[in-house]
Order: sequence, then structure tokens, then C-alpha cells
Amino acid sequence: MPPFGLYIQLFSIHGLIRGESPELGRDADTGGQVKYVVELARSLGEHPAVAQVDLITRRIQDKAVSESYNQPIESLSEKARIVRIQCGGRRYIRKELLWPHLDEFVDKTLKYIKVDAGRIPDVIHGHYADGGYVAGQLASIFGTPFLFTGHSMGRHKKTKLLSEGLSDEEINRRYFIDRRIGVEEEVLKDADRIITSTAHEIDKQYALYDNFASATFNIVPPGIDIDTFYPYYYTQLDAESESEASRQARLLLLNELNRFWVTPDKPFILALCRPDHRKNIKGLITAYAEDKELQAIANLAIFAGIRKDIGQMEENERNVLTDMLLQMDRYDLYGKLAIPKKHDFSTEVPELYRLCASSHGVFVNPALVEPFGLTLIEAASCGLPIVATNDGGPRDIIGNCRNGILIDPSDSGEIARACRDILIDRDAWDAYSRSGINGVRSHYVWKVHSDQTVDLIEKVREEMPDLGDLGLFSKQGIGFGRLLTKVNRLLITDIDNTLVGDDDSLGELLEIFSKNRDKIAWGVATGRCQRRVMEALAEHRVPPPDIVISSVGTEIYYGSELLPDKGWSQHLSYKWKPKQISETLDRLDFLYEQDGEERRDYKISYLMEDNPDYLARVHQALQERKLSYHLQFSNGQFLDIIPFRASKGKAIRYLSYKWELPLKAIMVCGDSGNDEEMLRGDTCGVVVGNYSKELDHLRGLRRMFFSKKEYAAGIIDGIKHYRFLEN
Ligand code: GLC
Ligand code: MG
Repeated sequence: MPPFGLYIQLFSIHGLIRGESPELGRDADTGGQVKYVVELARSLGEHPAVAQVDLITRRIQDKAVSESYNQPIESLSEKARIVRIQCGGRRYIRKELLWPHLDEFVDKTLKYIKVDAGRIPDVIHGHYADGGYVAGQLASIFGTPFLFTGHSMGRHKKTKLLSEGLSDEEINRRYFIDRRIGVEEEVLKDADRIITSTAHEIDKQYALYDNFASATFNIVPPGIDIDTFYPYYYTQLDAESESEASRQARLLLLNELNRFWVTPDKPFILALCRPDHRKNIKGLITAYAEDKELQAIANLAIFAGIRKDIGQMEENERNVLTDMLLQMDRYDLYGKLAIPKKHDFSTEVPELYRLCASSHGVFVNPALVEPFGLTLIEAASCGLPIVATNDGGPRDIIGNCRNGILIDPSDSGEIARACRDILIDRDAWDAYSRSGINGVRSHYVWKVHSDQTVDLIEKVREEMPDLGDLGLFSKQGIGFGRLLTKVNRLLITDIDNTLVGDDDSLGELLEIFSKNRDKIAWGVATGRCQRRVMEALAEHRVPPPDIVISSVGTEIYYGSELLPDKGWSQHLSYKWKPKQISETLDRLDFLYEQDGEERRDYKISYLMEDNPDYLARVHQALQERKLSYHLQFSNGQFLDIIPFRASKGKAIRYLSYKWELPLKAIMVCGDSGNDEEMLRGDTCGVVVGNYSKELDHLRGLRRMFFSKKEYAAGIIDGIKHYRFLEN
């Protein structure tokens, strides 16, 4: 990847995404959003200011789906590609089941950034709540501008489901909707910009959120492909160059329509939508049926999805299609109304718009609500005037393009009048047609979208303080990720009696850290809770470390803002049942609960007399209830129960994995028994001269250095011993 130009990462986690023959509509997770993000990636990749676009999605290896979703990298164009990252196993699972696995996705993306991309993204753009979560985490890790596009929002969906009679419980069981809403609230708070397609979305969806007021919105409508949706008159002007495919498509359509119409030469009114009662096909047929003049001027064609056996279809669709047929009969619209049944016309759609435009017809979208209305833009692009519901999407479109008339969908007279007005006035028709064609090209093409997006990115970047290479401050906190992907050494030390104890050598050590900032990151590991860590450090005038491993390794924080590592917490939650553990142990009368602040989500601590019999009884009580845990007893009085996956040593190994730092590039320093576990193993161990006797048995182990110097001087001695700052 070139070092100059924007490096953009887009996150769209769920569904099946590929550049070649996308399987749109294959399932509920593979629809409009998938199309949107692929087209967005391609069009951003065309922008001259952009160096590289990675569209990052989930990698799937599952016989039930194509092998193409298992390719780690798929090129979309010269500067755009799909990157696939695994999380939550290999199988294809629905989006609602991905929540517990998103932290794994974050961690693996960090490795991808460090090892494969070799460059920190300049902007991170999350799509849908799941992509927003991952993008938000990464943006706070790197202090990178964060954009978000919801596509659809949980609160809106929940309201809808509740109104359909589902219970709160049922909705959460099926969709984990409260979790989604919680993430969306966070995203609204953290994102630098929210990009929506319409103003309607902002009012109807985002406005339902508590953090609505703290979000900044930009309306940037998506583009359509104008090479596919070209104006109708191209075909007439240059019949020679018309492709065989579109000629075929036209013949097929004409054949089909002429089976219905007695006078096929008239203009026709066209509607194209899913068979859904909210699309209000009924209103359109009524409008046509009740207006004799309109029937005399034009035919009507309604393409309402594919239908095979209506009796077998799902209720809503079945009702809509049955009504359609009954209306045809009731109003006796035979010979005038075409309701083609045959097959999926999706490849013929552009030709259908052009056919309608060539007849000097009109496109109608009478839906009861219409948040966006892509078909209106496609029809307009082919030169077809439109009549559409006076609601969000159409209002924006007609406002921008001035290419038709807005109507009240519940007023069939108004629908009919609008159609007539356009059909009988040829000057008006021409004007609408022309401004539709031009309007789409200046508002609704991907090139316009990507130009606006890149301008927006530049603006957000200017608003943010310059991060430079290692500048670390950003809106969400600290771009500690920049440091941790850059350095190749990490030093982790215990606090009491190791880092602190001797102020002179401590000062010297801090000096070494700050002089070697581009090489080494440092942190502390301790039993104290995070607040008491900062208290102890402040007392000795130690500036905030890059990493804090607190509460016996159950919590990891980064930077002076103490940004929690959510991946680590997620990892620890496995088989952790704190309620059962305290219930069990509270019954033992020789245990005394520690100060409330020391009780953490993943740490339950007591004071206990040093007595082997007591220890055995603690184990026994926990094992009887088949609870999984890790127990640590230290300093002859502290008893900590933590998840079996936790410890200071394991936290260090997690950091090694996450930040791609080999264990031998990590130096660990300590003085007493509770440091033993983290001192052992492949890391460079340093025991300071003032150590407690219980560590004596570590002498002679590989990569275990016993310094003769005390406190921080011992650490400095260790750095020299391992030549830790040399290459
Ligand atoms: C620290 C903590 C305490 C813990 C002990 C041993 O003193 O404050 O909660 O039990 O370390 O890990
Ligand atoms: Mg100590």
C-alpha cells in the first residue's frame, strides 16, 4: 500500500459479501447493505485522494455457502478489496448471534493492521450496529476518525415489533435487540459523523435515541449505476450500439405486457415493488379504476415481485396478490392492467423503465411510507417522470431533481390527477424527464457520494488534533494503538517494592522510557484496582503508563484515559459465575470480605488467616458446586477468586497475542510471590534485589535474572542484562 493518500477501512460484518455475482436476497442478512458497502468501497477506491479501501467482513468456511466467502482477500478494483477476518468459529450464522464474537473480530483486525496492512487506517467507517461496534473500538484504540452508517436502527425495529404484538422478552430472545440498542447508543456518542441516506432516517430512526443530540449527521445519499440506468433515448438514437442483452430484455418485456393489453401503443403507468401491503398497490389500482379518463389515456403495469403459487405464499404477500387479482376483476380492468407473473425481472428492470419512458409513461410509488425509494432514482435516471408519496425519501428526491409530483397515498383521486397531469402535458413530461436525468447525475451517483464522503473525511481529520506518528490524543481518549503497533518491546512491572521504593532510580527509569518512546511501551501489573493504581503512581509522581493490568490481571487498561480492553473482559466472562461464587464463600466464617472497591466484575477478594485447612475448605466448597475459578492466596492474607482464564501472567500473554509482540520482547519485573506466575515462562524475567524469599526457587530458570540492585535500579539493571533496548 502506498504511504500517501487515505487508507479507509469499512466494516460490514454480517451477511455474505463478495464482489463477483453477489447473492443479494439470499437471506435476511444479505441484502441492500451488502450491495451498498461493495459499491461504496469501489467508488471510494476510484477517488484520487484515496490510497486504499479495505471492506472488512467476516470470513466464513461453511459447506452451506460458497467457498468464495473463505478467501481472506478478494480484490474489487485496483485500490479496493474485501478483507475477511474470522470470528465466532467458521460457520455462517445470523447477525444476531455475532454479538459475543465481535471482540475477537477487533483483536484479529489489530493483528491484520499490524502484520498485513502495515499501516494504521486514516478513517474507520462502521456499517450497522455490529460494524459500528468494531469500528468504534478500533477508532478509540488508534484515535482515528470514526464514521457510522446505521442502515437500520434497533429502536425503530423494536417499536415495530412491539406494535405487532411481540413481547419484550420474545424480541430479545430472537434478536438480542437491547444489546443492539445499547451499542447504537454508544456509537451515537462516539462517532465523529453519522452518514445517512435521507433526512427521514434521522427524524424517524436516530431521533429515538438518548444520545441523538450528541451526534452529528451528514446526509449523503448512495449512488446508482448510471451505466445501467441510462436514459431511454440512447436506445432510440443509437439502436446499432444497443447490447444484445437489452434488446432481448425489451422483447421479453413487450411479449409479456402485450398478453395483457388490448391497446399496447398507449403510454403506461408503471409500479414496481415487493408485494407488501405498505406499498399500497391497492391504492394505485383504485386510483386507476375510478378514473375513466386516465384509463383512456394510459395502460397500467404492476410488477409486484415473483409469484408462483399464491396459496403457498406468506400471508402478507398472499393477501396483497389476491387483492390485486380481485380488484382487476371487480373493476373489470382486463385489457388495461398488466400484472406479469412469470419470473424475476430483475435483470430487465432498467429496460422496463426505458420502455415506460419511451411510451411517455409515468412511474408511480404510492407506498404508505417511503424512507428512501431507490426505484424512484433508477426510474428517474432512465428519464421517467415520477409520482410518489409525500414522505421522506421521495420528498428528498423530488426536492433535488424536480422530476415529478408528490401525492397523499391515501387519496386515490390525487394519485390519478397527478398521473394525468404528467401524461397529458407533453412539455411538462419533457421537463420532468430531463430534470430527472440531470438531477440523478448530480445527486445520486456514487462518484458524487464518494466525493462528498472524502470531503467529509478531510474535514473530520482537520477537526482532530494532529496525531502525527506517535501523538496520542484523540476525542475518544488515547490513540494508544498507534504506539502499540509501532513499538517492538514491552516492559511490565509490579508496583509495590519493584517500580516504587527508591525515588532516584525511579526517576532514572522514567527518563529511559521517555527517551525510547518509539521503541518501548511500558505498563504495570498489580493486585490493586485501577483507581488505587493511579493513586499509588500519582503519589510517586509517575506519569500514567501505557498499560495498566489491574485487579490481579482481570482488567487491562490503556493510556492516561484508562480505556478498558473489552476483548479481555469478554474472554474472561467464559464460565464465570460470580454470584454463585460469593454465595458459596460468604457462608465460610473464616473469610472476611475486602473493601468494596476491591470487588470487581472478575475478582472476588477476601482476607483470610494463613491456614492450609482453610484453603482446602475454600476449594472444596467451590468444587462441590462445580464452579470454575482460579484461586490466588498471597502475602499470607489475601485471597482472590478470579476466572480460570485470568491472572497477571495470562493478561501479559493476551497482550502478546493481541499486539503481535513475541514473549521474548516482553520484560516482566517483580519482587514477591504474587509476581511468580507472571515472571515464569518465555518472557524476560527480572527479580529485583529487594525480593522476598519465596521467589528464591526461581533462580537458575531460563530467562530469569536476579538483579543485585534494588527497586527500579533492579529494573534498569535488567534492561542492561537483556540488552533490552538494543536490536
Ligand atoms: C492488592 C489488592 C487486593 C488483592 C491483593 C492480592 O492488595 O488490593 O484486593 O487481594 O492485591 O492480589
Ligand atoms: Mg510487589
